[in-house]
Amino acid sequence: MRDKVTIVGSGNVGATTAHWIANRELADVVLVDVVEGLPQGKALDLTEAAPVAGFSCKIRGTNSWDDTAGSDVVVITAGIARRPGMSREDLVQTNAGIVRNVAAHTGRYSPGAVIIVVTNPLDVMSYLVYKASRIDAHRVMGMSGILDSTRLRTFIALELGVSFKDVTALVLGGHGDQMLPLLRYTYAGGIPVEHLIAPERLEAIAERTRYAGGEIVELLKTGSAFYAPGAAIAEMVEAVLRDERRILPVSAYLNGEYGEYDVFAGVPAVIRRGGVEKILEIHLTEDELKCLKYSISQVREAVEKL
Ligand code: NAI
Ligand code: 2OP
Repeated sequence: MRDKVTIVGSGNVGATTAHWIANRELADVVLVDVVEGLPQGKALDLTEAAPVAGFSCKIRGTNSWDDTAGSDVVVITAGIARRPGMSREDLVQTNAGIVRNVAAHTGRYSPGAVIIVVTNPLDVMSYLVYKASRIDAHRVMGMSGILDSTRLRTFIALELGVSFKDVTALVLGGHGDQMLPLLRYTYAGGIPVEHLIAPERLEAIAERTRYAGGEIVELLKTGSAFYAPGAAIAEMVEAVLRDERRILPVSAYLNGEYGEYDVFAGVPAVIRRGGVEKILEIHLTEDELKCLKYSISQVREAVEKL
């Protein structure tokens, strides 16, 4: 029997994630939304792609939580997205109400699932999901680090004019302007990029990475990014379902790591079937640690306000 992935929210990110999951034959997918017809329409459209795309996963659209029961992974994308002039933090009150409700249903219908939280601001929402779903902390993780890292990888590859495949990078911290692109841990073909790109160009690339979500919002005007976010979510889903033990930057529950307790933040972690197996504490310079801790304090402040 194939694994089952529920995606809550069938908007841009939810539907695109379903597309990437089906294309990679990862699992059967249930798309849920509160809007009648939307998940059903998208699921049918995607299913009709199967003969030409060559996948055999079942894609189902629904407005009922009953259809989600017993999922192996639940991806939460339900909520509102940014428009020009808005920060991710502007979404917090509206999305908190939606996400609490979704988390309670997830805990009830799929108590054994790994939950991937995407709704922004995702570090704050991951904490709410952990509390409201009553699912163990290591089974709850937020997606942003893979997206931020893939953006940094893209910009480095474009700068060097080399294959995207050869660039690896790590972005930690919260998913906001205070995120931490770790250029010291960024490589092209195994070579530290600091040996290949001048410091001022590297700083410009790090800055573009910090504002990359906003760059897309300004261009689209009606919403935020979804292709790269969907691909990043599918990578996390794959790591879980295939028990890969991948080292990925995810928003994970900190219980003493980096000197922080009872908060979700973007850190490198080993991801496998049960969720987060282990958080890796890497060496950070004094400045980097200060930056990480500042971004964590912002998450904590937002959680406290709620
Ligand atoms: P969208 O507006 O296209 O889709 C959101 C969907 O959620 C809508 O179809 C809406 O009807 C649905 N929804 C609302 N309340 C619901 C509920 N209670 N149950 C089920 N569905 C519900 O928005 P989009 O672009 O898909 O973005 C979704 C969220 O993901 C936003 O908060 C956005 O900021 C966030 N996001 C986070 C990223 C990250 O890296 N963590 C990357 C991209 C987006
Ligand atoms: C992004 O970075 C919207 O947070 C999302 O594109």
